[in-house]
Parts: sequence; C-alpha cells; structure tokens
Amino acid sequence: MYADIDKDSYNIDHEQIERKITSRTKVIILVHLFSQPSDMDPVFELARKHNLKVIEDAAQAHGAEYKGRRVGGFGDAAIFSFYPGKNIGAYGHAGAVVTNNKEVAEKVKLLVNHGRYEKYEHLMEGYNYRADSIQAAILRVKLKYLANWNEQRRTNAKKYNSLLKDLPLVTPKEMPYAKHIYHLYVIRSKQRDELSKWLNSKGIDTGVHYPIPLHLQPAYKYLGIAKGSLPVVEEFCSEALSLPMFPELKEEQIELIAKEVKNFYDK
Ligand SMILES: Cc1ncc(COP(=O)(O)O)c(C=O)c1O
Repeated sequence: MYADIDKDSYNIDHEQIERKITSRTKVIILVHLFSQPSDMDPVFELARKHNLKVIEDAAQAHGAEYKGRRVGGFGDAAIFSFYPGKNIGAYGHAGAVVTNNKEVAEKVKLLVNHGRYEKYEHLMEGYNYRADSIQAAILRVKLKYLANWNEQRRTNAKKYNSLLKDLPLVTPKEMPYAKHIYHLYVIRSKQRDELSKWLNSKGIDTGVHYPIPLHLQPAYKYLGIAKGSLPVVEEFCSEALSLPMFPELKEEQIELIAKEVKNFYDK
C-alpha cells in the first residue's frame, strides 16, 4: 500500500529543493516536523552551493538529535516554540531564536522589543514579541525534566509501534540519522476520518496535524498553487492522525488505544 514508505519521514524531498531555487531565493527553512529531525546534510550542501541561509524550525523538536547532535545548532538560526502543548511549554506564549551569528542575534533582540536599543531609543520598527519573565521562570524549572519527558515519549512511541505494527496503517518511523522525541505520534490511515470517529466514540481523543497543507490555506491563496500541485503533502494531510502522546501516558492506556484501533480494522 505504501511502496515509498522509506521516504516517509515527514521530510522535504532534497531532489526537489534545487529545482525550486531561483535568483530570488534567500533561505531554506527546514521544519523538524513532529520532532523528527530533518535530514540536514544534503540541504547544507545545496545551501553552500547556492549561497543560501538555512533556518531550522525546531518549534516541535526540543532535544531531538541529528547524527548525535541536538537540533537547533545547525542552521544560521533556529526557532523553538514554548507554546503550552510543546515538549517543553510555558504557561502562556513564549518562544526563542537561537543563533551563533552575532548580527542575527542583535537584529532579533531589536525586532522583539519594538526596535529599541536604549530606553526610549528605537533604531527601527519592530514588534512586541517579548516573553514574560514569569514564563522564563517556568521554563527554567521545566527544562530539568525535558530529557526525562522525551525519553518517556520515546518509550510510549515504541510501545505503540509494536502494538500497531500488523495493522493496515503506517506508524512513525525514526530515521537512522535521527533521535525522534515524538512531540506528536502521527500515524497514517487511508480511513483516517472513520478511524478518528471510532476512537472518539470510545472516549479516545485524536488530532489531525494537519488537515490543510500550507499552499491550500486561504492565507496563501494568492500564491496560486492549485490543489494537486503538491500531491505528497496533500495525501499526507488526508491520512494523518495523531494518537494521544504525552510523557505520563500509561502502558495500559496505550494498550487500550491500540486495542481500539485494532477493533476498528477487525469490525
Ligand atoms: C512546526 C512549527 N513551527 C512554528 C510554530 C509556531 O510557534 P509559536 O506558536 O510559538 O509561534 C509551531 C507551533 O505550533 C510549529 O509547530
């Protein structure tokens, strides 16, 4: 059913990137989607060849590793989200940009604080993107638990994978270069909507990440990328289903969820 399953790592297709580069291209943004690190080496090769910057979107990947090193330290800059539902989340909104580039760091500091460099002195127009200190204090405490929480997510994912392996669906696959920390546990099913309804009727909450790909969002309609233009992501969006995933999930709960998924296919 899924002949190309080895490619199913939520990753961008490297061969297609180069075809899309034009004289106006400045940057490649890599998303470590669901916390599976993107395969970065081939992208950095392309970026060097075409003199492009690389930004890592590590919003979902706090502690995920690429070839033994934590993501967020590879690109010219990287972003992390501390939205409450993330592997490490604040009690409100917060996020971070990390970079080894002094110029980028200075610019980001200006942008987040209305372009201010001295009290009442503004060098440029910026935004009110300051994170509250209380959120920083909460994140500082939570940081101590992150590695342990990530390990628990990995254990949960392994348990799901082993219980769901013989069913006609696709379970997430950890790529050989990756340490996946399962911000989300996303399976693929040709009967996604029915399966989701079935699980919900049994009291099991599910999510869809994501139902509408970017190019079909009303906000990007102006780009004129028609339905059918990006078949891989469109198919993915019609099949993706997120099962419950959080560190405190108990073994019996995973067994129950897997049993209900199996019951769905057996009925
Ligand atoms: C992959 C990805 N990128 C970016 C963001 C944006 O993060 P924030 O909501 O903290 O701005 C999110 C958050 O949901 C995300 O999942």
